[in-house]
Amino acid sequence: MVSPNRLLLSSLLLTLLLCVAAGATSSKNVTKIGQGYRLVSIEETPDGGLIGILQVKQKTKIYGPDIPLLRFYVKHEAENRLRVHITDAQKQRWEVPYNLLPREQPPPLSQSIGKFRKNPITVSEYSGSELLFSYTPDPFSFSVKRKSNGETLFDSSSGDSDPFSSLVFKDQYLEISTKLPKDASLYGLGENTQPHGIKLYPNDPYTLYTTDISAINLNADLYGSHPVYMDLRNAGGKASAHAVLLLNSNGMDVFYTGTSLTYKIIGGVLDFYFFSGPSPLNVVDQYTNLIGRPAPMPYWAFGFHQCRWGYHNLSVVEDVVENYKKAQIPLDVIWNDDDHMDGKKDFSLNPVNYPRPKLLNFLDKIHNIGMKYVVIIDPGIAVNTSYGVYQRGLANDVFIKYDGEPFLAQVWPGAVNFPDFLNPKTVSWWVDEIHRFHELVPVDGLWIDMNEASNFCSGKCKIPKGKCPTGTGPGWICCLDCKNITKTRWDDPPYKINASGIKAPIGFKTIATSAYHYNGVLEYDAHSLYGFSQSIATHKGLQGLQGKRPFILSRSTYVGSGKYAAHWTGDNQGTWENLRYSISTMLNFGIFGVPMVGSDICGFYPQPTEELCNRWIEVGAFYPFSRDHANYYSPRQELYQWQSVAESARNALGIRYKLLPFLYTLNYEAHVSGAPIARPLFFSFPTYTDCYGLSTQFLLGSSLMISPVLEQGKTQVNALFPPGSWYSLLDWTHTITSKDGVNVTLDAPLHVVNVHLYQNTILPMQQGGIVSKDARMTPFTLIVTFPSGATAGEAKGNLFLDDDELPEMNLGNGYSTYVDLHATVKQGAVKIWSEVQEGKFALEKGWIIESISVLGLEGSGAVSSLEIDGRPLIGVSNVNVSTSEHEHLNSEGEGEKKTV
Ligand code: GLC
Repeated sequence: MVSPNRLLLSSLLLTLLLCVAAGATSSKNVTKIGQGYRLVSIEETPDGGLIGILQVKQKTKIYGPDIPLLRFYVKHEAENRLRVHITDAQKQRWEVPYNLLPREQPPPLSQSIGKFRKNPITVSEYSGSELLFSYTPDPFSFSVKRKSNGETLFDSSSGDSDPFSSLVFKDQYLEISTKLPKDASLYGLGENTQPHGIKLYPNDPYTLYTTDISAINLNADLYGSHPVYMDLRNAGGKASAHAVLLLNSNGMDVFYTGTSLTYKIIGGVLDFYFFSGPSPLNVVDQYTNLIGRPAPMPYWAFGFHQCRWGYHNLSVVEDVVENYKKAQIPLDVIWNDDDHMDGKKDFSLNPVNYPRPKLLNFLDKIHNIGMKYVVIIDPGIAVNTSYGVYQRGLANDVFIKYDGEPFLAQVWPGAVNFPDFLNPKTVSWWVDEIHRFHELVPVDGLWIDMNEASNFCSGKCKIPKGKCPTGTGPGWICCLDCKNITKTRWDDPPYKINASGIKAPIGFKTIATSAYHYNGVLEYDAHSLYGFSQSIATHKGLQGLQGKRPFILSRSTYVGSGKYAAHWTGDNQGTWENLRYSISTMLNFGIFGVPMVGSDICGFYPQPTEELCNRWIEVGAFYPFSRDHANYYSPRQELYQWQSVAESARNALGIRYKLLPFLYTLNYEAHVSGAPIARPLFFSFPTYTDCYGLSTQFLLGSSLMISPVLEQGKTQVNALFPPGSWYSLLDWTHTITSKDGVNVTLDAPLHVVNVHLYQNTILPMQQGGIVSKDARMTPFTLIVTFPSGATAGEAKGNLFLDDDELPEMNLGNGYSTYVDLHATVKQGAVKIWSEVQEGKFALEKGWIIESISVLGLEGSGAVSSLEIDGRPLIGVSNVNVSTSEHEHLNSEGEGEKKTV
């Protein structure tokens, strides 16, 4: 939620950002900030890396003095990963803490300067198995090439006519650029609105600095910071993708012109990681191998979630659950925003509106049918001497400091202090508070919000004499007495990033950037790590509870957050634009290693129209994380509130609940290989350039394509179908086949969302239900697709099943089963078989495959035989699929129920 002042601010954005964009296009005349560095030594290190020393060529004063000597360290850390780390050669600088994001440490500085400074240059390039690092000594620049095709992936050299310098390194300003070929398609660099879609758009500003600002129509910095991009190129029909991560938590602007990309960063070090790909899936695998694999999610997390701000008492919540049931709309999880709290204080219960005995009774009831309950927690701890959480926090000295005192801010409960999650003592205190709260209310997950961190005041504040009212009403204003802080260089750095999309001060509506954390770490450096560090602490707190798998939803994220938390895209708007933006943001988060993602369905505010809500649930039913949520001031927008929305919801969520085993298997794939659950089409069709910028359709996994209506008044949708055969999930007889890809206008009446399954796939589905626990125990159907009219072909699929509430998601624990599904067709002979790992668990659970549908054999002659796991299926030779457009080869009734 943005405070009222921020809403006013957004009206200024348009003008200001237009100026920024206009400035960016005429960048040719910009003076270079620095004259660069020259290499004075470079040598191999005992660990197989390279260390070099760089000396500044000519000092300049813009944005502060240059750091005279730099040390760079290069290492092929893995076959597909190269690291280039550049820092001050003489002084330790701020880096993303190694305990927060575990990774290899470069050699200590003490080993570099004395030993290498006077050494001659003995190495000219540095080759790994996939990537090649080379450099130019004066002015120093480096390039990274892909060895297999000679492609230059990164090139920091600047020519005379380039507006950027090859390398600038000052205490509070770092600049480096890369040239890019014209055909490079870039994705990532968020969290931003990305109004132009998933592909980075030349001259849009990409500012990374965690900020409580909702998706606006321009590309402003939002809640998370992910300084990573994927670059996809297609040279002569051969596509290759790589990624570049700049692991730096300081605020930065990234300027992308289409043929170059320039980072302008206000601190830290240059710590680049290059991931060689070459497929998009390889890239996310390599990326999450470094930053942490996405968290396993419990099965119920893939069910539908209902939330809203303003469920004033428990009866309203009970009513909502009841109404979902009446309307026969699936619902797994009911949420509380801060309404259950006492005075909006974390870990508390309002005794009047949410009396504990009644709440426990309600939770027993919903838990018995497999439903779950999640509540919100904000990081701001109310400053209130009779509040236990605060007292214990103070006693343990857990808060971020300013002038030796806990930094005073204001959020929903009024005056608050912010826990410093970089402090191990804070983590222990937080874990303890979560455990205490769980004793009070057995919640199933936690929603951590406002953790950018959001503050309704800017500056140094004090509690005014008299009372400090808690205010959340319209027109509410800050009750703290805040004044501008003395502007240190941390509050007012020489280079202004485009914070909040308007070059706002970096301490605007957040923690003062000269406040400090544990061990003297400046908020200036650690700002964008706040939500990430809170996710880690919260994960630790939940992990210890009843041996269950944690579920955390975090608004603010950083590199590595996916290992702990899911994400929603914050306070979006109930507009058609925002419905469209939700797709790009979701797809970006897949690349960021946070695959469990979704947007507030129907929009947070203002009130959506009925038609929009219909269309939104048709998209949202296919978000990995599917939740309806609304603002306090919006009218109610649960899916049953409109007859028509209820119908769309039953249809779309009906499909989702049948797909739950598939979504859950994708969750497993994400966890073991970083593969996004929702993916841009180019993940499966990397050589099909038509889909590179496509932001209106998406895939679940590699083969299930969603083509929703995203415009008002439309009952048709123009959808792109990459080459091959696609089968409509609504009616398997509808097949779209093309050799080179095709645009097709599909019918999409109000209650219909188009979903297509690609050829060569085996899709496991179940029968659905209104709670995932029940849906999960229904018989399976396998949909097998061959290319339309195929006489020969093969199809594949997989299925992961486990006891989903166990903390770990893995094979070999006795509580999981993995099935590889295979099918072939050859001159009418269809064979389907499975390879099962750890089959005991599934066997004991009693899951069965009740039916198998084989699609695509029309026109290919009669099916002469069908064999399942080596056993011929009785009577199947009578089934002739040659004359119909499709046929269900159904083992039901043949006495052939097969245990998974
Ligand atoms: C923030 C959240 C929103 C929540 C509100 C009140 O704005 O983004 O989802 O409803 O705070 O807690």
